[in-house]
Order: sequence, then structure tokens, then C-alpha cells
Amino acid sequence: MKIPSKEQCYQLIHETGMMDHIAVHSIQVCRVAMLITEKIVSFFPELNQDLINASALLHDITKTKSLETGEKHAQSGELLLTDMGYPEVGYIVGQHVRLARYQNSDDLVEAEIVNYADKRVTHDKITSLSKRMDYIMDIYGKTPEHKMRIKELGKRTKKLEDKIFEHIRFSPDKIDDLLEPIENSDLYISFMKHI
Ligand SMILES: [Fe+2]
Repeated sequence: MKIPSKEQCYQLIHETGMMDHIAVHSIQVCRVAMLITEKIVSFFPELNQDLINASALLHDITKTKSLETGEKHAQSGELLLTDMGYPEVGYIVGQHVRLARYQNSDDLVEAEIVNYADKRVTHDKITSLSKRMDYIMDIYGKTPEHKMRIKELGKRTKKLEDKIFEHIRFSPDKIDDLLEPIENSDLYISFMKHI
């Protein structure tokens, strides 16, 4: 499996002209995903941490472009990364808005962690799942059908949150306290040095 390194992810972020606030959002999502992974990997040792790291950093790789083109950025991100020779990363990016399968089984896969982490970060701020879903509803809930789909997505993601936190000793609202302020984080510092 080919997974881009952190430096390659940064390079791609720059090359594609990602807007700064989307880059910072991506770093935050990555930090949340890696914190969860660190706390849960002993229960799910098959989780690939490098894969989670790269997929979280690159999950919005086509978002900037999508603001102009109106394309579905999860799908176009998947295509781009698959074309670049990273199909496994692409597969996870393709599911960051909505998972291909929501399951209550005891299994936990990389795509679920990245998807959940993205539902905990609004712009660069770590927020509760319900606040993030309220934001998604405000922005994307344009029609009754969209509203219903977003409500359903919120319910499914809540079940995912319950599944993840069954194994973690702290509650979902403690994520913010457990992370260093973003300005002090290694990921942010090395990203800023890179640009
Ligand atoms: Fe996204």
C-alpha cells in the first residue's frame, strides 16, 4: 500500500492551492483523528496509523476547487488521490462526508475515524458533534430532503461516536482539553515551516 508521507501531504496541499483555513481545518481533523487512534489502537491493532494520518490531512484536498466548480469534493478527492497512486487514501477521503457503510459491529476501520474526526472540527475549532451537525444543517440543509439526510447523518454519526467512545476512557467533550493549542502542535509547526 502506498501512503504519502507528511511532507508529501503538505506538498500536495500547497500545490493544489488549498485555502489557509481549509489547511488548518485539515490539521485539526488530523490531530483529533490521531488522538482517537492513539487511545483506541490497543483494541483495534489492525488500524493503520499512517493511513489515518495521511487521509485526515488530505480529506479536503479538492474542497477549495469545489467551491468554484460545485463538484462533490469527497468524490473528486478520492479520484485525485486514486489517480496519484494512493487508492487506499482515496477510499477513505471518499467517505469523509458520508461513510459507505454504517455498522454497529465491534469492528472499527480507518474511514470511520477520519469521518468522525471531521465531524468534530468546524473550521479550525474543535466542537461537539451536535454543534458541527447544526453547522452542516445551516450550510447544506437547503431543502426538506437535504434536511432529512443531514438529520439521519447526525444520528448515524452519534452511533459511531458511541461506538468509538465505548473503548476510550474520556468523554467526547474532553478532546479539546487533551490536545495542545494548535499553535503549539508539532503538526502545525512543521506545516508552517514547510510553507
Ligand atoms: Fe470535507
